[in-house]
Amino acid sequence: MSGTPRIVTAHWGDDGVVPYEGYVRAGGYEGLRRALSMSPEEVIAEVKASGLRGRGGAGFPTGLKWSFVPQDTGKPTYVVCNFDESEPGTFKDRELVEREPHQVLEGIAIAAYAVRSHLAFIYCRGEFLWPGSVLRRALEEAYAHGVLGERVLGSDYRLDVVLHRGAGAYICGEETALLSSLEGYRGQPRQRPPFPATEGLYASPTVINNVETLCFVPHILRNGASWFTGIGPERSPGTKVFSVSGKVERPGNYELPMGTPFRVLLEEHAGGVLGGRALKAWTPGGSSTPMLTAEHLDVALDFESLQQAGSMLGTGAVMVMDETDCIVEAVRRMLRFYAHESCGKCTPCREGTWWVSRVLDRIEAGLGRPEDLALLEDLPGNLLFRGFCPLLDGAVSPLASGLRYFREEFERHVEERRCPFTGRGPSTVAPEPPAPAPPEPAPGPVPLSEVLR
Ligand SMILES: Cc1cc2nc3c(=O)[nH]c(=O)nc-3n(C[C@H](O)[C@H](O)[C@H](O)COP(=O)(O)O)c2cc1C
Ligand code: SF4
Repeated sequence: MSGTPRIVTAHWGDDGVVPYEGYVRAGGYEGLRRALSMSPEEVIAEVKASGLRGRGGAGFPTGLKWSFVPQDTGKPTYVVCNFDESEPGTFKDRELVEREPHQVLEGIAIAAYAVRSHLAFIYCRGEFLWPGSVLRRALEEAYAHGVLGERVLGSDYRLDVVLHRGAGAYICGEETALLSSLEGYRGQPRQRPPFPATEGLYASPTVINNVETLCFVPHILRNGASWFTGIGPERSPGTKVFSVSGKVERPGNYELPMGTPFRVLLEEHAGGVLGGRALKAWTPGGSSTPMLTAEHLDVALDFESLQQAGSMLGTGAVMVMDETDCIVEAVRRMLRFYAHESCGKCTPCREGTWWVSRVLDRIEAGLGRPEDLALLEDLPGNLLFRGFCPLLDGAVSPLASGLRYFREEFERHVEERRCPFTGRGPSTVAPEPPAPAPPEPAPGPVPLSEVLR
């Protein structure tokens, strides 16, 4: 929409900025040039003053994270760009990379300079074949033009960037599981503390940032921290890219100032609910953030306001459900995802997500038992904060919020013994094929008397 400030998506629609020359023509690498003219401490101070908060889900202040990196440890320092983007509903990092790959590389180079790192990694989600090739080409260009390598932009600073493709696992977006995977181990989370800033990749100080977070950094260096703090609310400054999907007229990524009411995103940008139907539910930041309802249309999209409303900004992935959507089915699908993606390290998550998923399967199939609702209501309290990592808390979100706002839909499924939205139930579902006959019992040992007879 015209009139709204766009920062990291300002050049979307102009394919000319994909190659190096076009990016530079549009002012690219000016932020890195300015950073190199400052001391690393000054760069960190500038990013700290901007109030930039991580866009990967947790919203941790970026400059503060960089300031935790110890110097003179005798070990190398690493920077890792988290391009795993596997939170359901999120597709902003992919488009940021595809449309302006050098913007991410510039952010990585500034972050690396700020923490005195000479080796950075991009952890690219396994399924991202095309975005991965776009990045590879951009990396080749950056080396060819002296943006990376021995003398970054002609300075004394040296930086190498390695593109690493993951194998495709949701948990590998979690920063410590990502590090395990990058080191060649199974992608499972590690104990925190120590946090990666002090003990990360190969037990060395490591900064991990999301793609979108890093994309803001060149602009902050180019325009100054106070320019950035002038956009959005005081505690959530800047803009945010919202990935809107589901029942809307115009799904897509929209960059808006933090604090924009959800109604504006939905009605003015995404074109409203599909077919003019009524809004039923929406997630503000992917499936792991508690869903909200039509009562929350005027909630501001920023870290604090969404927390006050009982949810979270997360990745800014807004999934919209309308009056025809079955919440039980939506929650069932989300839980099935978490049960599948649980890394299996701890019992509450490995077993809990699977059991919840089973109960939801039978409720949606019209086979729910009266006691299932009490069981489901009991489960969030038993699972929340019981996992080794936040994946399990994320899995609880759709279940707990679904029950909080739409309990009567769960009740109807059980009472009517069918899904009230699709009409499917045991009588409309093809009967299960008969169980295969049990195998013939293995013959027992032949008595010795028989053998000798
Ligand atoms: C289960 C799980 C999955 C995650 N997936 C991603 C992801 O795909 N991309 C991402 O940037 N952060 C992801 N995160 C958050 C990261 O652990 C980490 O907080 C983030 O990369 C830090 O970057 P930021 O400070 O720039 O947001 C995930 C966290 C959890 C618990
Ligand atoms: S909570 Fe789930 S994903 Fe996290 S460590 Fe435990 S089993 Fe793995």
